[in-house]
Amino acid sequence: MISFFISISLYGAFCSPLERTGSAFFIFGDSSVDPGNNNYINTIPENRADYEPYGQNGFFPKPTGRFSDGRVIVDFIAEYAKLPIIPPFLQPSVDYAKGVNFASGGAGILSETNHGLVIDLQTQLKSFEEVQKTLAEKLGDEEAQRVISGAVYFFGIGSNDYMGGYLGNPKMQQRYNPEQYVGMVIGNLTNAVQLLYQKGGRKFGFLSLPPLGCLPALRALNPKPKKPNDEEAGGCFEEALALALAHNNALDAMLKTLHYMLKDFKYCNSNLYDWLHHIINNPTNYGFKDGLNACCGTGPYGGIFTCGGRKNIKDYQLCDNPQDHVWWDSLHPTERIHQLFANTLWSGPSSSVAPYNLQDLFLDRQITIGDIVDHNPQSQY
Ligand SMILES: *[C@@H]1O[C@H](CO)[C@@H](O)[C@H](O)[C@H]1NC(C)=O
Repeated sequence: MISFFISISLYGAFCSPLERTGSAFFIFGDSSVDPGNNNYINTIPENRADYEPYGQNGFFPKPTGRFSDGRVIVDFIAEYAKLPIIPPFLQPSVDYAKGVNFASGGAGILSETNHGLVIDLQTQLKSFEEVQKTLAEKLGDEEAQRVISGAVYFFGIGSNDYMGGYLGNPKMQQRYNPEQYVGMVIGNLTNAVQLLYQKGGRKFGFLSLPPLGCLPALRALNPKPKKPNDEEAGGCFEEALALALAHNNALDAMLKTLHYMLKDFKYCNSNLYDWLHHIINNPTNYGFKDGLNACCGTGPYGGIFTCGGRKNIKDYQLCDNPQDHVWWDSLHPTERIHQLFANTLWSGPSSSVAPYNLQDLFLDRQITIGDIVDHNPQSQY
């Protein structure tokens, strides 16, 4: 605790006004963090959210393309970092100096995932290289490099590789067993992080995978549904849960390795899986009434992905109070979940967010190696 207060006061006392303008924020990912890039591409209605009732809570004047009743996690993080809302890369004439968001609903880490319908991670990285060039032209090499090395790079991606990309893709399951597949996904994510590090990035944040099998869509598809008298608020799709856990464990190991391999590599990771699983099973402890059913959708658990009536099945139901629900639609949580998890990533204790929380990264706080060795976010909850 003591070092916490000292680093705060040093920050206030010695940072020049220029340095205090803060870190830029670059975002890569899927629908968990897409602010509307898919509004600008040719894709299917399932990969878009620029129609009602998406965005219905009125924070934005009309649907933006966010897969939520309002904001998503990176909007809250930007607010806490005193940044403006980070714009989608494809929005015309955006200014990149405070960062930009490359995420695309439906995207995977592997380019095979939803190929042709999304902006995959490789393409998102190519766009980042364009942004880096533009910044250098606008600000000069030195200032651009300062922006790049001072920025926080955030990843919210991977769910689609396991859902559509693997569980929904028998050919992929024939070619790779789960362990090989996770290795391939993590291998490609590692390459992405290393590329950004080579470009000058030093500070990284990760949204680990949620308990995928408990998404209303997967709960509804579960081949082994809940037994009567089963105590656990169960019926989560076990195979999807196992893949998410394997991915998160591999991600954690990968980040520890990069921390030792790459000088000044700093990261924030947290256990979204356990965090969300606990809320799903104990919704009332967190002020929710329903941890199982989507607010917007149809069928069992609202698990048929029809929210908005733009897809093949037009029928959908909408709940009265999204803030009572963990799940907004069949695949995505409500704004309240985004906000609660943003709070955890921003200022969570090292027992749950490690080795740095996002506040540490944005404010350039230092911690000791001991903190990294002692606190494993996978094992402490
Ligand atoms: C990245 O994914 C591709 C499939 O898209 C795979 O062939 C390749 O081996 C992966 N790379 C790594 C480093 O795992």
